[in-house]
Parts: sequence; C-alpha cells; structure tokens
Amino acid sequence: MLEKIKETASFIKNIIQDTPDFAIVLGSGLGKLQDEVQPIHVLEYKDIPNFPQTTVVGHGGQLIYGTLEGKKILMMSGRFHYYEGYSMETVVFPIRVFHVLGIKNLLLSNASGGVNSNYQVADIVILKDHINMMPEHPLRGRNIEELGPRFVDMSEPYHKKMIAIAEKAATENNIKIHQGIYLGLQGPTFETPAEYGMIKAMGADMVGMSTIPEVIVAKHMDMDVFCISVITDLGGPDISFAVSHEEVLNAANKAMPNVITVVKGLVKNYP
Ligand code: HPA
Repeated sequence: MLEKIKETASFIKNIIQDTPDFAIVLGSGLGKLQDEVQPIHVLEYKDIPNFPQTTVVGHGGQLIYGTLEGKKILMMSGRFHYYEGYSMETVVFPIRVFHVLGIKNLLLSNASGGVNSNYQVADIVILKDHINMMPEHPLRGRNIEELGPRFVDMSEPYHKKMIAIAEKAATENNIKIHQGIYLGLQGPTFETPAEYGMIKAMGADMVGMSTIPEVIVAKHMDMDVFCISVITDLGGPDISFAVSHEEVLNAANKAMPNVITVVKGLVKNYP
C-alpha cells in the first residue's frame, strides 16, 4: 500500500513540482468551489496511477492544482465513499497521497442531514467534532508506521484555529454559521425517522455518509483538518419528509456562495 501511495505521489509531484498549502476535498454538490480556483494543472482521476474513479452523480473526477486567494491548493473534485463499494483503504488513499506530497492542511466539505432543531436547509455548519459509526475503521490492520502511530490521538479532530478563522470570515460577511457534531454512517440509504431520532439522542447535530475516514487517516498523519458541511435536509423522529439526492444537490447549490466565502476566508488567513 505504501508503495502505491508513494508511486501516485511522485506522479503528481512530477507534474505540479511544488508543495500545496492546502488539500481541499469537495463533497456532494459542492463542485462549484472548483470555479474559484485559478487552475495550473488539471488531472483526470483516470490518468493518475492507482487513483480510484467516482461513481456518484454530482461528484466530478478531477484533481486540480492551482491557486485560491494566493495560496497553492490541490483540490479533489469528487471523493470516494465507502457505500460505493470501495474498501476503506481506497476511500482514504488520496488523503495519504496528499500527506506524502507534504501537504499539512486538509479542508473537507460534505452534505449532511440536520437533526439539530435549530438547523434549516442550506445552513452551513463547521464540524467541531464527530461520532464515528462507520462499520469499518480505516486504520484497522497492520499499522503503516511510516505514516503515523498505532494509537491515534483524536482529542482535537478539527483544528480549533482553523475553526476560529472560518467563523470570523462568516461573521464578517453576515453569514449564519453553526458549529456542530457530525455522525457518520455508511449509507447509502438516508435514515428512517427512528434512526434520525437515535442520531439526535446520541448527541450529534447532523448525519452523513463520508468525511470521517478521511479525518481519521489525516489525524493519523498529524495533518490539520477542517470540515464544512451544508445541511441539505432535515430529519428527526417526528419529521418524515422524503429526501432525495436531487434535493441534496439543490440545497448544496443554494448554500454554495456562503461555503465559498468561508473557505476563501480560511485559505486566505490560515496559518
Ligand atoms: N443522511 C445521511 N447522509 C446525508 C443526508 C442525510 O440525511 N443528507 C445528505 N447526506
């Protein structure tokens, strides 16, 4: 596995020739952030050795190296989900490549279902913590010592300073923003009313089908992690609206200008 990671990293390194300041992963319906980047190199996933391919509508399949707010960024347009049938190793593969490329800062985004009664559709939420309920752990198995320790500290999964900078960018631009706890399930079904109720009772504010594996391996490698989520639907024991992928994409679209403002503010002002 490590050999594959290194092979992919050296392929990318040969093209971009530089160490990006940030890696950014775009979640469901958040591809528009891509248009904000001044691209220098655009790599199709299919042309990158060992890179998996995406299978979900609303997820692209490109790795974009360019600049955003004067910083060097490497952006993944389209991520790999466990529910697509990939192994956890595959889901987290790109994040490990980013680390081998020397990237220290990871910005993630996703769409999620809100269970906090103060949330509305198209609200944006900064993750302050998460609850991992995925059925498989990305670090299960022999530890790759070159990447990080066997037992990983998770006391600050999301970087506090990044959260503060993003929060400030939101406030300065009159954008309503929350900080919340994300619970990760494998999907691909959305939750039943009873399941949304359980998620709420467990202390989470929102639920989704991604992100946590990436965060775990990033922390394993001691990267600084930030994640912003768009609330694309609301669930709860007493709510029984139907949810569809289309709705998720529509809500993500609506929230996009705010996500862009916050991410730009963070990239510009961190570290
Ligand atoms: N549940 C799980 N994943 C999601 C949801 C949801 O309600 N909305 C967007 N992704």
